[in-house]
Amino acid sequence: MYQPFWRDARARLKRRDYAKVLATVGGLTALGSLVAPVSGLTQVFDRKYKGPVYSDGVALVDADGQPISEGRLSPGEQLTVFPEPRPGIEDAPTLLVRFEEDAYGGEIKSEFTVGGYAAFSKVCTHAGCMVADRDGDVLVCPCHSGRFDPTSGASVVGGPPPRRLPQLPITLTGDGTLVATGDFDGPIGPGGE
Ligand code: FES
Repeated sequence: MYQPFWRDARARLKRRDYAKVLATVGGLTALGSLVAPVSGLTQVFDRKYKGPVYSDGVALVDADGQPISEGRLSPGEQLTVFPEPRPGIEDAPTLLVRFEEDAYGGEIKSEFTVGGYAAFSKVCTHAGCMVADRDGDVLVCPCHSGRFDPTSGASVVGGPPPRRLPQLPITLTGDGTLVATGDFDGPIGPGGE
């Protein structure tokens, strides 16, 4: 029987290593973008698995494999989360943000939000870098300064990204933890227009 991720020390270590790799590659990529023209260096996400990564009831977990409780973030904060791993599912860094509920508007799918939380793919739709920076409420991709407004469905508000970050439908379970109710509402990363 498949054991929950947070009870498996080896899997936990693997997840931490994965997060470190993402952070390291993201930093190197940002540095590379300063000294080299746009190239393959900016392509930091290569998703091999093509099927759905979230489905109804899949828990969102942090880099240590811990589920996300309702009070984890305060309005204005964000956290990188992942789908609770199952065999074959590895790469789906997800940005969880929280704002006051009345801050949302525009292109947000409010039925995909819960308690002020919204979740988006962290993979930039331009060249696949991690959207790791923040400027006020705006999410910023460090590679070419792509800017996304999370309160408006992560719509593009600056830079070269051709489309918004896909939004993940989420809800709270009876025990107060965040789970998906389906998969992202669009393709992850570059392409898929
Ligand atoms: S990869 Fe170019 S703006 Fe994000």
